[in-house]
Amino acid sequence: MTDLQRTATSGFENAFGSEPHGLWTAPGRVNIIGEHTDYNDGFVFPMAIDRRTVAAVRRRDDDRIRVSSSFSPEIVEVSVRALDPDALHGWSAYPLGVAWALGQFGAPLQEVPGVDIYIHSDVPVGAGLSSSAAIEASVAVALNEIWHLDHDRRTLAKICQLAENRAVGAPTGIMDQSASLLGRRDCGVFLDCRSLETDVIPLGFEEHDLELLVIDTRVEHAHVSGGYAARRASCEAGAAALGADSLRDVTVGDLERARELLDDETFRRVRHVVTENQRVLDTVRTLREHGPTSIGELLVASHASMRDDFEISVPELDLAVETSMAAGAIGSRMTGGGFGGAAIALVPVALASAVAEAVTAAFAQASFTAPTIFPVRPAAGATRESWPSPPLPANCHFRLVPAARTSVE
Ligand code: GLA
Repeated sequence: MTDLQRTATSGFENAFGSEPHGLWTAPGRVNIIGEHTDYNDGFVFPMAIDRRTVAAVRRRDDDRIRVSSSFSPEIVEVSVRALDPDALHGWSAYPLGVAWALGQFGAPLQEVPGVDIYIHSDVPVGAGLSSSAAIEASVAVALNEIWHLDHDRRTLAKICQLAENRAVGAPTGIMDQSASLLGRRDCGVFLDCRSLETDVIPLGFEEHDLELLVIDTRVEHAHVSGGYAARRASCEAGAAALGADSLRDVTVGDLERARELLDDETFRRVRHVVTENQRVLDTVRTLREHGPTSIGELLVASHASMRDDFEISVPELDLAVETSMAAGAIGSRMTGGGFGGAAIALVPVALASAVAEAVTAAFAQASFTAPTIFPVRPAAGATRESWPSPPLPANCHFRLVPAARTSVE
């Protein structure tokens, strides 16, 4: 058992006075490339990281669902029968939102047994590493098993996205949840967000002695409000003006026409998404043909597009990218939703400390808050970790009825 899992287990015991039936974990993610393309039906290429969230869970004999966590001592308790996405608030909206969303995908919430859930995580919060998707995915795999639902990973990703959109209220796409559920060691997850087809692609970081540094600017971001929703609205307006269902259907060759039809700001939002989709495809091809040391220029071009066209970078992220490139990084870009959070830098292991020192010095020089810099490795997706005693009761006290599935595509 890892320290993280031990702490989750003892946290569960302190909160609820008994042992969990099992531990399920899910990773955070960094996006290698493909930003703000997911909700435009486009392409993304994220990877799961070796920072994880643990959900320690025990099945109950009644209808109560109780959640607690190491970052908030309160215990939130509701009936599984009465879950209402509009009544969920604060961090508990993530785990309880997943339970509600499972109901929307056919789980018989009027019959399933209650559960106690304790959450503990080492995914930094607010850094753009998808700590929220990690909570959702860990709870989703746990309840999928305990409630005998048998959903595949793609469906679980949709369920987690629905929880995030409706219960938390953040209008995000499906990338983070897919990365957390589908990741594999030393691999990236290439995802077509329209068909939801995925291809898990070896990154070769280990073989080439490369490391991915996360540079957390400590400028906190939130996707529930503000710029994220505004960018999404611009993309939808741009697609509609071009007569397309989504920006996925607009190509680089259509950009001249788009420039004539759209106002300057909407045009630049559209250009970012259209060229970013192409960069994802180019990155995956380059990786396959020439290996990871050749994808640097595409990462830097992605950052420039987010800085200039999509306008979601901040001075701290720009400085992190410029400084790490000057110090010898192969490629660097901001990652995630933007407006703060983290940048990534792909570096030879031998240069990692020099790059980190250069960025720290540049931040001090600019009088920015000191960044937190650490390496991440491409890691496995959500999984059940262990099965401590007492075992999960084998008998199933509820009847799983094939309920009509709500269509929430
Ligand atoms: C956040 C969202 C994702 C995606 C990215 C931007 O991480 O949760 O769905 O839109 O921003 O690429």
